[in-house]
Amino acid sequence: MTIGLTYDLRSEYLKMGFSEEETAEFDKEDTIEAIENTLHQLGYQTERIGHLKQLVGKLAAGHRWDLVFNICEGMYGIGREAQVPALLDGFNIPYVFSNPLVLALTLDKGLTKRVIRDAGLPTPDFAVVYKITDIETVHLNFPLFVKPLGEGTGKGINSHSIVNNFTELSNTCQALLKTFEQPVLVETFLSGREFTVGITGTGELAATTGTMEILQRENAEKGLYSYSNKENYQSLIDYIALEEEPLKSQCENLALKSYKLLQCEDGGRVDMRMDGAGVLHFLEINPLAGLHPVHSDLPILSRLNGVSYNELMKRIMDSATKKLIRSNK
Ligand SMILES: Nc1ncnc2c1ncn2[C@@H]1O[C@H](COP(=O)(O)OP(=O)(O)OP(=O)(O)O)[C@@H](O)[C@H]1O
Ligand SMILES: [Mg+2]
Repeated sequence: MTIGLTYDLRSEYLKMGFSEEETAEFDKEDTIEAIENTLHQLGYQTERIGHLKQLVGKLAAGHRWDLVFNICEGMYGIGREAQVPALLDGFNIPYVFSNPLVLALTLDKGLTKRVIRDAGLPTPDFAVVYKITDIETVHLNFPLFVKPLGEGTGKGINSHSIVNNFTELSNTCQALLKTFEQPVLVETFLSGREFTVGITGTGELAATTGTMEILQRENAEKGLYSYSNKENYQSLIDYIALEEEPLKSQCENLALKSYKLLQCEDGGRVDMRMDGAGVLHFLEINPLAGLHPVHSDLPILSRLNGVSYNELMKRIMDSATKKLIRSNK
């Protein structure tokens, strides 16, 4: 079986003139190599395709694959993560990870929270600020947390994200609206412990690969898992496999319920945090979780819980190939 690989290689975009921050979510060569090597070890053949436009070129030239392993984040628009799977659907080519509807929905953290809240799952109260005058209509109690509506990898998240009064709210919203040219999500600040849960599988077969707690060291940016804390995690963050019960089960229940509700496929990661009273809340879901074998949260948390990179990839591929069997029937 030949697996095509679609990905956004950071170095290619840097060469094209995009900035470090614009390309922060894109992958490094060693991630693609790790995925490729692991797929070979699992008995698959692979062919590198690359980003959306390279996929378009190959499709036009008549290339086809049995399955595409897709980790493209996309460059333009709120639907950018959905573009590659949408194109592959158009050619009836199956792919690993979620469908366009899931990837478009979950990139919008506000709409995702509406679905989560509608199902009665806990997530902080929030408002979406489209233009700066909208802050007049934010009726939430301080402190609040302010972040871009549709980014990942901690982009736009720093010490100014926690705001304690109207002036700080206005300043951070203004800065984010300008920098990211997209709406801003304003949420109740959760001051408690933070966890992330790994999941593989689809629907009823979805299962966790483990849960880890994210602990900031003394010298880390305080109170949040920010862009700079993520970039420098080796010196600033401690990751601990969560074993404490019933907390571990509570984290995994919330993660699995959210993942199934949002109809994620094959694998992903759910981020959550406790409020001051110790109640767990859904923060966001990552249906295209980073897959760097050493530095990405999903492989790290899986490894801490005894699931190797090879095993993680095997579980993802087992899920994807089950879908393949179903779609060929
Ligand atoms: N409402 C909140 N209250 C407290 N902390 C928050 C809140 N929202 C986000 N954070 C902090 O900011 C971090 C990043 O937020 P979030 O997970 O939404 O961003 P992201 O860039 O999508 O992350 P990822 O790297 O997982 O894609 C969280 O891990 C958490 O530490
Ligand atoms: Mg996150």
